[in-house]
Amino acid sequence: MTPKGATLKGLPPSVMATVVMLLILIPAADSAIQINCSEPSQPALLEALAPIFNLSAIRPVMNLTTRTNVNISFIMYGILGVDEKGQLLLTYLWQNFWWMNEFVRWDPTQCGSDKISLPRKKFWVPDIVINEFMDENTAPFVPYVYLHSDGRVHDASPIRVVSSCNLDIYTFPFDIQNCTMTFNSYIHLAKDIMIFLDRDAENITKLSKNWMTTMGEWELLDITSHHSKGDIEGNYIDELVFHVRVRRRATLYVVNLLIPSCFLITVDLFSFLLPPQTVDRSSFKMTLILGYTVFLLIMNDLLPITGNTIPLINVFFSLCLALMVTSLLETVLITNLLCGSADFSPVPRWVRVFVLEILGRLVCLPQKTKEKSTFCMKPNTEATQQKADGPPEEKGPALEDKALQELRSLGRDLQAIRLQVQQQEGSQSSQEWIQVGFIIDRLLFGLYILFVSVSFVTIIIIWGNSYSP
Ligand SMILES: *[C@@H]1O[C@H](CO)[C@@H](O)[C@H](O)[C@H]1NC(C)=O
Ligand SMILES: *[C@@H]1O[C@H](CO)[C@@H](O)[C@H](O)[C@H]1NC(C)=O
Ligand SMILES: *[C@@H]1O[C@H](CO)[C@@H](O)[C@H](O)[C@H]1NC(C)=O
Ligand SMILES: *[C@@H]1O[C@H](CO)[C@@H](O)[C@H](O)[C@H]1NC(C)=O
Ligand SMILES: *[C@@H]1O[C@H](CO)[C@@H](O)[C@H](O)[C@H]1NC(C)=O
Ligand SMILES: *[C@@H]1O[C@H](CO)[C@@H](O)[C@H](O)[C@H]1NC(C)=O
Repeated sequence: MTPKGATLKGLPPSVMATVVMLLILIPAADSAIQINCSEPSQPALLEALAPIFNLSAIRPVMNLTTRTNVNISFIMYGILGVDEKGQLLLTYLWQNFWWMNEFVRWDPTQCGSDKISLPRKKFWVPDIVINEFMDENTAPFVPYVYLHSDGRVHDASPIRVVSSCNLDIYTFPFDIQNCTMTFNSYIHLAKDIMIFLDRDAENITKLSKNWMTTMGEWELLDITSHHSKGDIEGNYIDELVFHVRVRRRATLYVVNLLIPSCFLITVDLFSFLLPPQTVDRSSFKMTLILGYTVFLLIMNDLLPITGNTIPLINVFFSLCLALMVTSLLETVLITNLLCGSADFSPVPRWVRVFVLEILGRLVCLPQKTKEKSTFCMKPNTEATQQKADGPPEEKGPALEDKALQELRSLGRDLQAIRLQVQQQEGSQSSQEWIQVGFIIDRLLFGLYILFVSVSFVTIIIIWGNSYSP
C-alpha cells in the first residue's frame, strides 16, 4: 500500500505514533482509536480529532473485509410535479445517511460533547446516488456532517430529485404514477457498502405526509421499499429500491375540461327537441360545434403531451366532437328529407313496411291517419286556399239570383273539395316521407342517447378503476 507510506511521511511524531498504532491495531478488528481530549472543550476535541482527518480518503474500517453499513431514510418534503414529455418526476427530499467511522471514539464526559459538526470534506462519505437521477441537484449544499462520540456519522442534506419515471398517462387526469427511486453506491460492491433502511417505509410515508408542504397537483399515496438480492459473495452493487406512488388531483381538470364538455354534449342532446324541419336546429348545432372547438383550443394547454400513449381524455374529447358532428349530419339529412319530400318519388314498399310499420312502432310513432300540414307545406296550402276563394260575388235579382247563388256556392264547395282531394293525393307520398323522416329522427335520437350513455359509462368505469389507490 504505497499511498499509506506517502501519507505517513509528513506527520508529526505523535500523530505518526497514532497512525502507526492504527496500522498495527488493524488485526484487532473491533478496536477503534480512543482519542483523549486535554480538556472538555470543542477546540480540544478538534485537536484530538486532527489525526483522523488525514484518513478521510479511505473507507473508515479497520479491516477491509468489514462492510460499511449505511442506514438511510428520507422525508419527501414536496412533489414538485411531473414532466409528461420528458417522463420525469420532480420531488424534493430530505435525505439522511448514517454510517460508522471505526477510526474514532471518545468519551463524551472527557471531551465535553457527544457530537460535533465538522466539514464534510474532512470525512469519507459514501457515494450513494439515486440511480434514476436525470438532472443536476439544485438543492442547497450542506457543508457539514455530524460525528458522534461512538463513531457514528450523520449526514443530512436536501436534494431536489429529478428522476426518470415511466409515466402512464392513459387515464389522465385520473392517473396514479408509480415511480422508482433506487439508492445505491455508484462503485462500491455489496461486500463494501450495504444500504439499510433506518425507518421502515411506512414511517417514511407517514412522516412525508405530515411534513409535505407543497401540496401541488400531486398527492402522495405511499412509499414502499425492497432490497435487491444478490449473491452471497457480495459481488454486486447493493440497491435499496423505493416505489413512490403519487396521485394527480383531478378537480382542476374535472371542473375545467370534463364538466364543460358534458354540458355541451347535454345541450347537443336536448337540441334534438327543436323541430328538425326548420333550419334552427342545424344552425344551433353548428354553433355548438364551433363553441366546442374554441373550448378545446383554449384548454389545450391543460392536456399532457406525450409520444407513446393517447390519454383516454383525448378520446373522450374526440368522441364528444364526433357525436356533435354526427348529430349535425343527421339533422341535415332529416331536414332534407322533410323539406324536399314533395319532389320525391313515392315511398318504396319496403321502406313503408320496414320504417313506417316496424320502426314506427319501435319508437312509438305509429302512422297517423290524418296528417297535419307541416311547416314546409304551409305556403302551398295557403296559396290553394286563396285560389279556392274564387272571384267576388255579384248581386242580382232576388229569386233567380238566390238559386244561382246557391249553385255557385255549391260549385265553389265542390271545387274546394276537388282541390283538397287533389292535394291529398299529391302530398300522400310527401306525407309518408315526412313520417319516415320523423321516425328516423327519433330512432337516431334514441341511438344517440344510447351511444352517449354507453361510452360515457365505459370511460367513467375505466377512470374510476384506475383512480382507486
Ligand atoms: C479481517 O477480518 C477477517 C475476519 O473477519 C479475518 O479473517 C482477517 O484476517 C482480517 N484481516 C486483517 C488484515 O486483519
Ligand atoms: C487515550 O487514553 C487511553 C487510556 O485512557 C489509551 O488507551 C489510548 O491509547 C489513548 N489514546 C491516544 C490517542 O492517545
Ligand atoms: C495531514 O497530512 C498532510 C499532508 O498530506 C500534513 O501536512 C498534515 O500535517 C497532516 N495533518 C495531521 C493532523 O496529521
Ligand atoms: C443502522 O440500523 C441498524 C438497524 O436498524 C442498527 O442496528 C445500526 O446501529 C444502524 N447503524 C447506524 C450507523 O446508525
Ligand atoms: C410499482 O412498480 C414496481 C415495478 O416497477 C412494482 O414492483 C410495484 O409493485 C409497483 N407498486 C405498486 C403499488 O403497484
Ligand atoms: C415507526 O413509527 C412507530 C411509531 O411512530 C414506531 O413505534 C416504530 O418503531 C417506527 N418504526 C421504525 C422502523 O422506525
